[in-house]
Amino acid sequence: MTDNPIFAVAAKAAALRAQGADVITLAAGEPQAATSAAVVEAAVDAVRDPATHHYGTAQGDPVLRALAATAVAGDTGVPWSADDVQIALGAKHALFLATQALIDAGDEVLVAAPGWPGHAEVVTAAGGVAVPVATDEHFRLSAEALDHCRTPRTRAVILSSPGNPTGAVHPASRLRQIADWAQQHGIWVISDDIYRAFDYTGTYRSILRVVPRLRGRTVVVGGVSKEHAMTGWRVGWLVAPPEIIASARLHVSRTITHVPTVNQRAARAALNDPGTPVEAARAYRRRRALLVETLNGIDGIDCPLPDGGMFAFPDVSGLLRDRGWTSSADLAGWLLDTARLAVVPGEAFNAPGRIRVCFAVDDETLITAIERLQTALASTEHESSAQQLEEVR
Ligand SMILES: Cc1ncc(COP(=O)(O)O)c(C=O)c1O
Repeated sequence: MTDNPIFAVAAKAAALRAQGADVITLAAGEPQAATSAAVVEAAVDAVRDPATHHYGTAQGDPVLRALAATAVAGDTGVPWSADDVQIALGAKHALFLATQALIDAGDEVLVAAPGWPGHAEVVTAAGGVAVPVATDEHFRLSAEALDHCRTPRTRAVILSSPGNPTGAVHPASRLRQIADWAQQHGIWVISDDIYRAFDYTGTYRSILRVVPRLRGRTVVVGGVSKEHAMTGWRVGWLVAPPEIIASARLHVSRTITHVPTVNQRAARAALNDPGTPVEAARAYRRRRALLVETLNGIDGIDCPLPDGGMFAFPDVSGLLRDRGWTSSADLAGWLLDTARLAVVPGEAFNAPGRIRVCFAVDDETLITAIERLQTALASTEHESSAQQLEEVR
């Protein structure tokens, strides 16, 4: 069994830091910012309230569930109530709960390739088989590609838009096509909307907004991790038809009992603060432009401008070819050792020849990281031209 390769990079960076190395990480899939003071204050108040010191309900705090239902109703245009929501330990746990509710051992779930490894991991953890589906040149899934991978055991597809690591946003026309395909074949859609707030083209639509009749076959997954810089608090949710919620509630009750109440109170405060994600998205849009422009200025790197999310996902195959690294993993290892800069190699996402670079960091960190990258690569440029000169001689 292998652990998520993204955590492996993060662990190596953390180990170097612990030894005193000045490592900058653009590897983590999380905002560098601290959680807002309002959320922290709400959590402190919650800790002081004896009501949070005792068991709560397995389905989750009803006030938080109502807030999540309202948020998802706003996105989907479909009415949801607190009864339709299960609170989970982050979006990843919500994805697991959805998957285990939907599949029997050996059932197949379609996931995007390139894609976030967590999607395949939750399917495996639930006893299923994750089937990678190749995305198009814009990293989007299509009904044709999905159908190509469909078998009698296909139960669900996990759709993530905006996506990680690609930032791909599926336009309404594509979502309609996927929804029609899912409906025709009785396949469930798990819509992972964790990056919904980070849409730089204004094209993000929830699949249910486009095709509301899919409501009985769709699970919407969300959470506060990315939008509110709360990855460590572990609060997410799934919003789904009653049979899925019943299964998820039972699983939570039999395992973790419920998500810690203090953390749920903190998440309530986050959902009452729509301004923080808007502010973050504004800053990320600016940083995205800076990072992508810099990367495209380096010979051998071709970086598409991501529509959403918080990552650049450049093709570095030209760089590997010209300067002699054997793989993206080799390059990422070299960057960490030489420039003390952590990025995630594309191999982690089924995309050799690319790297993932997070831009959800502050301006100073991003600028320093860019300088380190440019300096380190410039030194190899000199080396490789000296080597070429030597070879010519
Ligand atoms: C696409 C996607 N979904 C879900 C998650 C997990 O979110 P959480 O931290 O709330 O479990 C991540 C985290 O990187 C992600 O990239």
